[in-house]
Amino acid sequence: MHIDHIGIAVADLESAVKTYETILNSPCSKREIVESEKVETAFFQTGESKVELLGATSEDSVIAKYIAKKGQGLHHVAFEVDDIYAELDRLRGEGFTVLNEQPKDGADNKLVAFVHPKDNAGVLVELCQTKK
Ligand code: CO
Repeated sequence: MHIDHIGIAVADLESAVKTYETILNSPCSKREIVESEKVETAFFQTGESKVELLGATSEDSVIAKYIAKKGQGLHHVAFEVDDIYAELDRLRGEGFTVLNEQPKDGADNKLVAFVHPKDNAGVLVELCQTKK
């Protein structure tokens, strides 16, 4: 398990992309709209991990709601796992609240599922597995 990416909720994706291109002195490596989540993502490769900027594409997007409630900032930390189904079963067995019954399609060719922040010191945890 390693940190695949850190997800950051941003109000203005274009301006946040420019900011991160400056911080990291490196261009955005990938942009992708995830229709099911009503978000547009922008990825930056930082070593073996990535930064994922998340902008809402609609007012009823989870990211728009998140920003309205908590403001911009850290949204989730994503750990890559080999077998997301086995890991979700294991965490459910340990009493964690898994927010997705089944893993779903995420950005970057991944299956993803989330663990409730109340179980993780206030941090939303994403498990992700590269689709084979
Ligand atoms: Co993510």
